[in-house]
Amino acid sequence: MSDHGLRTYDSILDLLPSAENPTPIVRLRHIGGFQHAQVYAKLEWYNPFGAIKDRVAANLVRDAEERGEKLENLVEPTSGNTGIGLAMVSNARRYGFSATLSKQIPLEKRTALRLLGTDLVELDDDLCPMPGQPEGAMARAAELGERPGWTELNQYANPANPQAHFLTTGPEVWHQTAGAVTHFVASLGTCGTITGAGRFLKLQNPEVQVIGVHPTDGHDIPGVRSRRALALTDFFMPDEYDDIIEIGDDEAYALCQRLHQEESIIAGPSCGLALAGALRAIPDEPGVVAVVIFPDNAWKYLSSFRRHLPDLFPPEEAAPAPSNPFAAHLENAFVLAEHGPDVIDVQEARRLLDAGVTIIDVRNPEEVARVAIPEAVKLPLPELSLGSTDGLPEDRTAPVVTMCAAGVRSLYALLLLKAQGYQNVKSVAGGMNAWVAAGLPTGQPVG
Ligand SMILES: Cc1ncc(COP(=O)(O)O)c(C=O)c1O
Repeated sequence: MSDHGLRTYDSILDLLPSAENPTPIVRLRHIGGFQHAQVYAKLEWYNPFGAIKDRVAANLVRDAEERGEKLENLVEPTSGNTGIGLAMVSNARRYGFSATLSKQIPLEKRTALRLLGTDLVELDDDLCPMPGQPEGAMARAAELGERPGWTELNQYANPANPQAHFLTTGPEVWHQTAGAVTHFVASLGTCGTITGAGRFLKLQNPEVQVIGVHPTDGHDIPGVRSRRALALTDFFMPDEYDDIIEIGDDEAYALCQRLHQEESIIAGPSCGLALAGALRAIPDEPGVVAVVIFPDNAWKYLSSFRRHLPDLFPPEEAAPAPSNPFAAHLENAFVLAEHGPDVIDVQEARRLLDAGVTIIDVRNPEEVARVAIPEAVKLPLPELSLGSTDGLPEDRTAPVVTMCAAGVRSLYALLLLKAQGYQNVKSVAGGMNAWVAAGLPTGQPVG
């Protein structure tokens, strides 16, 4: 028999948290310099598989089983942690598991998923899967979930996601603070945490302040979403939150580093994000008891730290030694282009299209066949890289716009076109995925 007191368990799944077996909350003693307010971090890497999403994975499966669904193989779009949780619950339950996810997810998480036996379907998608993207992780998982013997539980739309937090995270916070909690702060991804736990806490005491924290557009913090992406998220319920705060990557990563050094807490990047928001929102007053959710720890994010905390890496390890110097130059040019003035959003692309500018769609023909901008010139990247300029303006001073599925291949196309002498090239951030998500016109592709 499992016994939380002795911490002796019959099954790994019995370690999943509950009011009787909560993940710890730890008071922050230094950062923030609070004199009166008590600010606690809730350390979610004490979940059995290392992140807050273990709660969701377990509840998605429990709910489906209790509804009598016959589960054999699961497929899920994930930014990593739900996939890790579902992979391990599936292993314990002897289900098969496949995850659809963006190639931008840190290598550590993708490797971890493979270690757990997951069949990975890697796609050109946003860091966090976005709804409405025809070639994204969500659409792909929905498609794969239709096969016989497969089920997509879909954390983005399944009420068992916020319910996991209503049943566990919320009650734990309430009990751990003996009902004294005044502020609850969480970073925003699917919004399962804030919506589920927030609802529970407000039912106990409507005065509890529920505060959401999100990153800026184009951020590099796995697991969370910018305001633009949140607008398309089913469980984002802004009317139910008391405050929503935007934080930039630099601030989040700097705070993540300080948490290790000043509080001895092995926080991951989204903990830094949540805490940065909390520091803005929490008044330093007597009686204030704040709990900030720390979704997972740092160890899965070394490749993110390499980009945001480069001082941690000795110069010889700051970037792997290039085996092919040309590839390294291309990579540098890519990074420069990615953050340079030649990246435009879909609305600007639409304006240029209307003004008669050539849009070059560099996706492959199967992708184009699914959805495309009719007026765009179709020139797949492999052909462009072999030197083809079919359909492009002869005048190399004429403006041209490159477009792909998610904004990565179009940047390579931009570099290739510039190398061929095109002087005015722009690349569309988010590509067709963003175009479709913005409701811009598509039609039967031509040519
Ligand atoms: C590291 C990390 N932080 C924050 C979140 C956001 O939590 P939620 O999806 O409940 O909003 C997630 C969700 O995947 C996550 O993996």
